[in-house]
Amino acid sequence: MSFSALWGSLLPVGLDDGTGGYRRFSWTLADAACRSWFIEEAAVRSLRTYTDRNGNLWGWWESEGTDGAAGARGAIVTGSHLDSVPDGGAYDGPLGIVSAFAAIDMLREQGCRPARPVAVAAFTEEEGARFGVACLGSRLLTGLTDPAKAQALTDRGGKTLAAAMAAAGYDPAGIGPDESLLAGIDAYVELHIEQGRALADLGAAVGLASGIWPHGRWRLTFTGRADHAGTTRLADRHDPMLPAAAVVLAAREAAAEHGGLATVGRLTAEPGGANAICSRVTAWLDARAPDEPRLQAVVDQVLAAAGAAAAAHAVDLDFRQESVTPAVEFDATLRDRLAGALAARGISAPVLATGAGHDAGVLSARVPAAMLFVRNPSGVSHSPAEHAEEADCLAGVAALAAVLEDLACR
Ligand code: GLV
Ligand code: MN
Ligand code: MN
Repeated sequence: MSFSALWGSLLPVGLDDGTGGYRRFSWTLADAACRSWFIEEAAVRSLRTYTDRNGNLWGWWESEGTDGAAGARGAIVTGSHLDSVPDGGAYDGPLGIVSAFAAIDMLREQGCRPARPVAVAAFTEEEGARFGVACLGSRLLTGLTDPAKAQALTDRGGKTLAAAMAAAGYDPAGIGPDESLLAGIDAYVELHIEQGRALADLGAAVGLASGIWPHGRWRLTFTGRADHAGTTRLADRHDPMLPAAAVVLAAREAAAEHGGLATVGRLTAEPGGANAICSRVTAWLDARAPDEPRLQAVVDQVLAAAGAAAAAHAVDLDFRQESVTPAVEFDATLRDRLAGALAARGISAPVLATGAGHDAGVLSARVPAAMLFVRNPSGVSHSPAEHAEEADCLAGVAALAAVLEDLACR
């Protein structure tokens, strides 16, 4: 099947016609449709599918003499994720999975016989859009997130991860680290759309990742007192919206001061009446920086501003870390090997750092990992406007195939 047919077969899944964005949240019907698509495409290619205890999907291209499942040895894994942010773009995640299937098609056409197991993986809840913790599937797999805490995570409607998994027909009791699966992986290579304009500026269709900025999410909950908007004197108010507003501005200021990025992209006001002072406002801070001291400086500065504003408006503040990923420096030996395989085919791939989080970053704590980026002409991502040209996607498939051939074929 051609890349464009394969790409087109996934496009309608989870698309919101009103916004033109994707709503592929884990353990929902859209997620189930994505999973069915993956299993079907794996079956078409005679890849053996396997769902691990954390709900991550694996499609194994078995080499002779292995059983190609958990317990395999020396495997090369490629993949990404199928879930999206609210009203996300089509490429963030799915491009890595579609490219992985397409690269396997290409290698087969070229007569490649794998000397070791190769797998396509789709990690669950990479965006943390439903349960708040980014890269939840890979974090659970590698033991970075406590399974009991994960089971108790709740979505916007108050449903726990455990209940959502059970409702989707999966057993939440088994989530947690999977040492035998990890022990069988020699390398993980994730292809992803670039979420910036570096490749466009450099005139390159594909790139390689050097590392990922440290980043994380923090939840600030301001609790005040609901009251009448038309009668409560300013001096008598305990309005949680005011310190929340201060946090939005403090995030911007702190990021500018320390050379990082900080965003409040999710804010909920309860109960949300237009003619009432809120009782509670929850703000989610996403902060990133080139190094950990600067990230800490951003977060400390925002927290100090939040505390001062909460006190000034007689409002309570609860501050909670949701997930933090330390700085990632990808395995230099693996990256050099990828660069060599690409150079041998005349592909020049600039090396870039990114502020975006990825399962490859989480997995890199346990297995050598690398990333290939595909040019994004506008740099826009986490938006329906996210786009990559088909020619660049095809260049990405060719690059991934070259890398897999070098790592896994005889
Ligand atoms: C994932 O896309 C992230 O960086 O938040
Ligand atoms: Mn994303
Ligand atoms: Mn992604």
